[in-house]
Amino acid sequence: MHKLVVANYKMNGDKKFFVSVAKKINKTKAKDTKIVLCPPFVYLPFLKIKNKNVYLGAQDMSQVQNGKSTGKVSPTMLKEFGTEYVIVGHSEIRCNGETEQTIKQKIKLAIDNQLVPIVCVGEKDKSSGLEELSSQIQSILDAAAQGDNVVIAYVPVWSIGTGELPTVTKINKAVQVIKKQIKDKKLNASILYGGSVNEQNCTELLKSKIDGFLLGGVSLKVDKFLQIVKVVDNV
Ligand code: PGA
Repeated sequence: MHKLVVANYKMNGDKKFFVSVAKKINKTKAKDTKIVLCPPFVYLPFLKIKNKNVYLGAQDMSQVQNGKSTGKVSPTMLKEFGTEYVIVGHSEIRCNGETEQTIKQKIKLAIDNQLVPIVCVGEKDKSSGLEELSSQIQSILDAAAQGDNVVIAYVPVWSIGTGELPTVTKINKAVQVIKKQIKDKKLNASILYGGSVNEQNCTELLKSKIDGFLLGGVSLKVDKFLQIVKVVDNV
């Protein structure tokens, strides 16, 4: 099992930024941590990856292979630019009316096209328990087959960009819920945490039983991003 750090740049950056990100990140030395960079679609070709630990990912994709889907990007198109991972079900997409059915289709289509889905799950409110997770995890179980590679990112919606963090105990509970539910399926799954992670809190968060992070805002500061990669790699 590899450790993993995923950068979700969201709708940020420009051509110059991503060219320089690739140059800096290509120099990274990591023992057993994979780095996945997810820029906006149009910048995928500008991230020239020359490091065996670094991979390209997309922030979303269409749930259908091709055809009448204005504005969407297909897995085949992503693959053409060297993409190997795709984020599915991020709350910033779920909130636009994306259903579990659509998320299931995307996970299945990603796997069918040899893309590893990074599926985001997590509760909306800070005061909620982890009940919302079970239907989100069920989508993964419905879409994936035994032995498939998947990444499951526990990203509580209330912690995204707010500076608010769940306790290590709560993260461990989420990891436990995920592991218990996927156990019989024997997936090859890595479990990440995402939401307000930075170079200062990452060491504490890594006391939980996660395999790495999904990073949003801090990904835009490449030096801090690489500091976090180093901490993950040394755990
Ligand atoms: P954040 O975003 O790190 O900026 O909180 C995380 C995410 O949206 O996955």
